[in-house]
Amino acid sequence: MEKKKVGFASGIGFVLAAAGSAVGLGNLWAFPYKTSANGGAAFVILYVVCVLLMGFTTMICEIFIGKRAQANPITAYKKAHKNVGWFGMLAVVIPSLIMCYYSVLGGYTVKFSLNSFVGNAGQFENFAGNFGDVILYVAIFLALALVIVMAGIKGGIEKASKVLMPTLFIILVGLAVFALFLGEGVSDGISFYLNPDFSELDGASVLAAMGQAFFSLSLGMGAMIVYGSYTGKEINLVKATGMICVCDTLVALLAGLAIFPSVFHYMATTGVSAEKLGMGGIGLMFQTLPLVFEDMGVVGRILSFLFFAMVSIAAITSVISLLEVACQFVIQKFHAPRKKAALVVTAFCFAVAVPVAISLGKTLNHDASMLIFGQNWLDFLDLVSNTVLMPVSALFVCVAVGWIIGPKQAVKEIEEGGTKLGWFRPVLGVMAKYVCPLLIGVVEAFGLVDLIMPVKEGVRTFSSNGLGIALTGYGLLLVCAVIYFLFFRNVYTGTNEDELIAEEKAAEA
Ligand code: PHE
Repeated sequence: MEKKKVGFASGIGFVLAAAGSAVGLGNLWAFPYKTSANGGAAFVILYVVCVLLMGFTTMICEIFIGKRAQANPITAYKKAHKNVGWFGMLAVVIPSLIMCYYSVLGGYTVKFSLNSFVGNAGQFENFAGNFGDVILYVAIFLALALVIVMAGIKGGIEKASKVLMPTLFIILVGLAVFALFLGEGVSDGISFYLNPDFSELDGASVLAAMGQAFFSLSLGMGAMIVYGSYTGKEINLVKATGMICVCDTLVALLAGLAIFPSVFHYMATTGVSAEKLGMGGIGLMFQTLPLVFEDMGVVGRILSFLFFAMVSIAAITSVISLLEVACQFVIQKFHAPRKKAALVVTAFCFAVAVPVAISLGKTLNHDASMLIFGQNWLDFLDLVSNTVLMPVSALFVCVAVGWIIGPKQAVKEIEEGGTKLGWFRPVLGVMAKYVCPLLIGVVEAFGLVDLIMPVKEGVRTFSSNGLGIALTGYGLLLVCAVIYFLFFRNVYTGTNEDELIAEEKAAEA
């Protein structure tokens, strides 16, 4: 009799779910404006190099750590060495921070898609400042994600990804093709987006590309460990990782092709200047694009609906992976039924998302009454999780595989697990041991410098707020370690087997 197990039913299901995690706001929103601001195609090349040099190997290592342990990140790291289980605690804590602000933006995208037919233009500050409304949409967004996570890996996450990811891709390609045929302004848009300007590349662009690669590929956040733990021999690690990276990069590239030709067409036909439109940051998606869509009349309303529905889809398939990280741990450690665990985790997320939404809304409306270390809650959480902690966690992934498990053992296990490494066999060790940790260290170091000594009017000036944010991050790291050694090191922390037990218990009840 075949042993029952929890997990993905098929390799393609896993790839789509992992691509769903990777493809998110980072691709559809951050990538396009970062590219346009950092030398266009020159940035794209830099980005692809980062994916190849760091992203690819780190992702293989992450999936591998989960897959070999068939367990949550804490148990998975423990299996590498008992004293590094706290690396896994960090990998659970980071996504738990991210989901609290990611869901606020997710709520925005749902609102903007549903509002398309009434018109979004000029609504942004209004909406952001209308807390009741924002909170309602965050709740709707999280409820959708909750339903999926509750239904489990195979019946929820895999199924949803199989439907949602192709849908997203079709909409995106459709929007890009439509944008390319708009006529006037299109070629300016493309050249604004992609014209390679290597002189614009500086240290900051390199850093932006590296950080973007990690965030966009969902690395250093436990998500890939968790999804990896639900796979078995059916997965070819190299091929699967390659597909996820290609999907993620392709979607990011296409997003810019859908956005910039449309924006430049709008500028060319209305005479509105780029400065007035403000094409960086949060404004590109929620301020600039609604104006562009509004200008296209009825067609624009349909496009607006499709565009924001697509962004909502991307955000949902990402947020479910963030929720799943904490959810999996709660299920496995406490034998909690999945439904209950998902409910608790989502409730926590919502409880923090509320003040995040209020703080963001206030800040966007020039009210500075709700800041932490000079930042609104969204930026604060983003800086702590992404700038300070994410590289540390990504470093841990590489250290675990390159130094603790060791390349020899890792290669052996990967090959026994059904993946022929071929030419990558000798490369994996060098990358995981030296290249990735070194590059990740650079990301962390320069990220900290920019945080603590930001450039103000051309000179680096000390920022006590930046220091506060950095210390918050490292404080959390310390807390993870202390809690681990006090409460988890010598205690059983559960595996996928326990999830099965919990499931059977729930089925009986
Ligand atoms: N990769 C997602 C994006 O590009 C964000 C994310 C990070 C999702 C980490 C899950 C885990 O938006």
